[in-house]
Amino acid sequence: GLRKKEVNVLCLGLDNSGKTTIINQLKPANHPNHLGPLSEEWKHVSQTQAQEIVPTIGFNIEKFKSSSLSFTVFDMSGQSRYRSLWEHYYKESHAIIFVIDSSDKLRMVVAKEELDTFLNHDDIRGKKMPVLFFANKMDLRDAMSSVKVSQMLGLENIKDKPWHICASNAIKGEGLQEGLDWLQDLIK
Ligand code: GTP
Ligand code: MG
Repeated sequence: GLRKKEVNVLCLGLDNSGKTTIINQLKPANHPNHLGPLSEEWKHVSQTQAQEIVPTIGFNIEKFKSSSLSFTVFDMSGQSRYRSLWEHYYKESHAIIFVIDSSDKLRMVVAKEELDTFLNHDDIRGKKMPVLFFANKMDLRDAMSSVKVSQMLGLENIKDKPWHICASNAIKGEGLQEGLDWLQDLIK
């Protein structure tokens, strides 16, 4: 049959890192085929919508399809009071997108703490699910490089799962496709 494989993706990361902005860029409503993703008009629409994004309360569920996969994305709130919700979705997830604000040096240690808690969770440790990191907000002047972010988070210590890090600018949509291509190749 031609039914697409169903994939649950869990989107994690601190509040204000850009999770919802990234998911919004991936949604079909933002990719009207008749305009094409690179047209000026589309960029304008996309940037307007990005600016209107508000902090997520709890979580949102978004669905979109690629050529071979049907994605259900759980866009979690990164606010500390909601982070306890994350673990309830670990078991049913097939892949993780973990978003980091590359310009937020002060909270990089908090991001590492949350990442380590996630990696050591009973439902996650030893599980071969791919983890895609977006070193987001690369457009900001004081953003760290993806290599630096990777070092600060200790990503080289992740041995039990495939992982990949991409620098991204979620407002312009830059770097997102590269990441998604990597994820898709591992899942399909
Ligand atoms: P929570 O829902 O609170 O967990 O936050 P979030 O991770 O979903 O962040 P959100 O997508 O709401 O983005 C937070 C702010 O960062 C918004 O004002 C976005 O416009 C902005 N933002 C997101 N991505 C980028 C980026 O790549 N560059 C810049 N300069 N700003 C960005
Ligand atoms: Mg959000």
